[in-house]
Amino acid sequence: MQGGRDKDEEFSLKPHYYTKYVVDGFRSLKGFEIKLEEGLNVLVGPNGAGKTNFIDLLDFLSVFLTRGLAAATSNSGGIARVFSQESLKSRIPRVQIHVSGLADLENFVGADAGLTLFRYDYDLDIRYSRTHSALYVASEKIKLKSLFWKHYAVHVNNTVGTLEIRRRTPSEEIEPEVEIGSRLKSRGVKNPFRYRSRLRSLSRPTSMDGGEIELPVTGPDQSILGARTMLPALDAIRESLSRGRTFNLTPSLAREPSDITTAPVIMPDGSGLSATLYHLDQARRGRITVRAAARRFSSEDLDTIIEWTRLVLPELSDITTAADPHTGKYISTILVSFGDSTLRVPLQGLSDGTLKWLSFVCLIISAGAARSIEEPENFLHPKMQKMMISLIRDSMISDHPGHFILSTHSESIINQCSPKEIILFQFKGGETKAGRLSKPEKVEEQINETGFGLGYYYASNALS
Ligand SMILES: Nc1ncnc2c1ncn2[C@@H]1O[C@H](COP(=O)(O)OP(=O)(O)OP(=O)(O)O)[C@@H](O)[C@H]1O
Ligand SMILES: [Mg+2]
Repeated sequence: MQGGRDKDEEFSLKPHYYTKYVVDGFRSLKGFEIKLEEGLNVLVGPNGAGKTNFIDLLDFLSVFLTRGLAAATSNSGGIARVFSQESLKSRIPRVQIHVSGLADLENFVGADAGLTLFRYDYDLDIRYSRTHSALYVASEKIKLKSLFWKHYAVHVNNTVGTLEIRRRTPSEEIEPEVEIGSRLKSRGVKNPFRYRSRLRSLSRPTSMDGGEIELPVTGPDQSILGARTMLPALDAIRESLSRGRTFNLTPSLAREPSDITTAPVIMPDGSGLSATLYHLDQARRGRITVRAAARRFSSEDLDTIIEWTRLVLPELSDITTAADPHTGKYISTILVSFGDSTLRVPLQGLSDGTLKWLSFVCLIISAGAARSIEEPENFLHPKMQKMMISLIRDSMISDHPGHFILSTHSESIINQCSPKEIILFQFKGGETKAGRLSKPEKVEEQINETGFGLGYYYASNALS
């Protein structure tokens, strides 16, 4: 499976931040194609259409990249929940995934590096071997395109190098073959692989300056992208491919004080909140903090989070944090003001809804907007559903390219969306199909004329 070259992108002034997925063999996704655009992507469609299947695929991919196939499969509910029923009946069940996306090197080489954005193609073919009773990566291929400026440069989609692994069986003795394009061995500034060594070589020369790229040998269950390498381009691709991770924020885990060794990241299950708040507080005081998931915390982030949290807790005046040396935990305290008096409430004392909102706001503000969330109407008051859409939009105005994926049945959420943001899912002949509305401007016109919201048209089945 190969993604077509995007004609618009080639000569446009602003990069087109899209990610295209082509999937074959994951649950009901068969010959399935979807293009996520920058900003909000709202998945709608009847029960059983396959929205969750697509969101779970993104999760599967991101667990696979860091922890391997076995972990990803068990996270997705086992083999029967990964391979399509049809594929499971065949001799060699397989899932093929193609992604064409944008990766950003900024977090890995620093903003001053100039050109940091590049397009990549990623192809994965995973199989199940009945003979060995094992899952394995039959092939994994990464194609890197030339670097370009984030905001305005004209750029071309030239391939500068490829990395490829192929194996016939999970027990194949030979080392996976990695083909590295000749341009990747060059010392050229435009070479994304060179950056880290180029920057490093300013202070001390490294062995990588010799022009050789060494990749660790990966097991049959592992991704090339999972290995820690010196190659910032691979880290950037892994980050870009992992952004679809779904969040299911659990209040009980958000309440638990994080250990002071915990990274300041809101985890998909909601844990890590107090560590994140602590590091945000450090950033507010102008102290340097460790790098968070997708971007560095800025000194205004915590205040922005407090402002948004006031929507559910109007009396919230501040959040203070501390690293407690006795328990080895991060402690967060919520200051709530009534008139002249101020109450100090521990994080654990917040209500479930408030905690979920706080975690959600922290997630959006601290990690950049590239995330997905399923049916947020399940935990949000209708007023907050509206606010959530504004919050996501607000956070995406930042210079961090990304998508936010939302699946929903909520009329009030759909009312907040523009017809261009809607992706309709349908289940036809045992397969999931996804597509945008064919004439979004017409729908927009009609909404303006009639005063009925988009949610109304969706609920009355007028969109399909
Ligand atoms: N292993 C599989 N092979 C083929 N089809 C599958 C497999 N697992 C699930 N499906 C199909 O996927 C569909 C379920 O899709 P999914 O759960 O993504 O729906 P959804 O759009 O999220 O629906 P809802 O709105 O109810 O949450 C069902 O029609 C089911 O038949
Ligand atoms: Mg679902």
